[in-house]
Amino acid sequence: MRQSSLVVVANRLPLDDNAAPDGACEWRRSPGGLASALHSILRQAPATWVGWAGGMGPAPRLPDIGSLRLRPVPLTAEEQRGYYEGFANATLWPLYHDAVQQPVFQREWWDTYRAVNQRFAETAAEVADRHAAVWVQDYHLQLVPQMLREMRPDLLIGFFMHVPFPPPELFMQLPRRVELVHGMLGADLVGFQREQAAHNLAQLAKKLLGAETTAGAITVGGRTVRTGAFPVSIDVAEMRALATRPDVRSRARQLRRDLGESKRILLSVDRLDYTKGIEHRLTAYSELLRDGHLKVRDTVLVQVAVPSRERVESYRDLRDRIEGEVGRINGEFGRVGETAIHYLNQPFDRSQLAALYQTADVMVVTPLRDGMNLVAKEFVAAREDDSGTLVLSEFAGAAAELEQAFLVNPHDLDGLKQTLLRALSADPADKQARMRAMRRHLAEHDIMAWARAYLTALDHTGRLARRMLH
Ligand code: ADP
Ligand code: F6P
Repeated sequence: MRQSSLVVVANRLPLDDNAAPDGACEWRRSPGGLASALHSILRQAPATWVGWAGGMGPAPRLPDIGSLRLRPVPLTAEEQRGYYEGFANATLWPLYHDAVQQPVFQREWWDTYRAVNQRFAETAAEVADRHAAVWVQDYHLQLVPQMLREMRPDLLIGFFMHVPFPPPELFMQLPRRVELVHGMLGADLVGFQREQAAHNLAQLAKKLLGAETTAGAITVGGRTVRTGAFPVSIDVAEMRALATRPDVRSRARQLRRDLGESKRILLSVDRLDYTKGIEHRLTAYSELLRDGHLKVRDTVLVQVAVPSRERVESYRDLRDRIEGEVGRINGEFGRVGETAIHYLNQPFDRSQLAALYQTADVMVVTPLRDGMNLVAKEFVAAREDDSGTLVLSEFAGAAAELEQAFLVNPHDLDGLKQTLLRALSADPADKQARMRAMRRHLAEHDIMAWARAYLTALDHTGRLARRMLH
């Protein structure tokens, strides 16, 4: 068994198995923020990525990506239901996103969640070299840090939460709250997107485990765990390189011609998830058409909504509602040759996304709650000429950094409508100044800066960051 001095443990591997039109199996980069972020830094790293390859049954054999080894963890159909669809995505996901959808507490899911976390921890322990660093990711694997510490006390263990971590009032609803907090505190460093989340964990550790806390540190059972905020980002250089590629530019020009040269294009790109505020956005757009503030002859909305977690009931219901609403809006406001909404329920590769980002006049990113939202950052990075405007929800982690966006509360429909109109009619000089400031921020806060900040905090000597990031 080959071992690594850096092991990343995440629910998903960066590849999704996908049936090609001829029925053959193809591996494609998985959509979703975590895979996008980590894939960029790890594709050349001397590391092992432990994760699920999607699908059920025995783990497939996967090729290395450069010097990155992939170590798949198999899940049975029952484990996929109890651990992934159940506890992770029907209990924790809605609760961590302000309970915008009612969390489901089903007792039998817990045992599966714990058993699968144990399998991830055992696999990581197997592939980690002596004194290696193991970096555990996200809410699916909250028990792994403590499990790993018990098996391998020699390891340096990091944990990073990509999604929001809720205030105690919400977290306290969880029947297994003590075990979950205890599990995370097995790490040496627990990182979040926002400082408030670290504060929430400290309060919970105090309340549930009698921990002592100071700014950035939680002491419990004689061990001190450090905490902090490390806002995740994107591979700015990759997106800029894509955005300047001649074929991408020409694809963007073609898209604009197809959508209508003189039209103002609103664009949204989301996983089809109830946290993304797609329904609120459609309502706002439809009301603007009804009130006559927007006309299909000069404005069009492109909504990309990549299918996600389709075996979870609330996601299937959401898809039905959204598709019904898109149909209604197109039926009511569309004209022959003039569609109100282009709805694309498909995955795209990175160059297609880059072309789409370049086509938009206004990018509309309005989640009800989001840990970060990398789509907003990708859009900014793709606008080499400082054109285009970003409408961004105050409830996305990205709003704390992209302050020059047109910030909006997506629950406030009138506010959302007004903000869309403001963004559409903003003065070109104002738009350009905003975009330039956001691009400047991103240039300094890219995915490398995120990884460097986290890994240096995990290992103060700086050796880990140097080895990983060249
Ligand atoms: P989340 O992690 O909740 O999915 P993010 O906005 O942080 O949200 O990340 C979404 C990621 O998925 C981005 O990197 C984006 O480019 C990618 N993505 C979104 N839609 C698609 C799509 N239709 N095809 C491929 N990738 C997509
Ligand atoms: O952090 C958000 C997240 O759960 C990530 O783990 C992943 O990138 C994304 O959402 C996509 O979700 P899933 O892996 O369930 O398709």
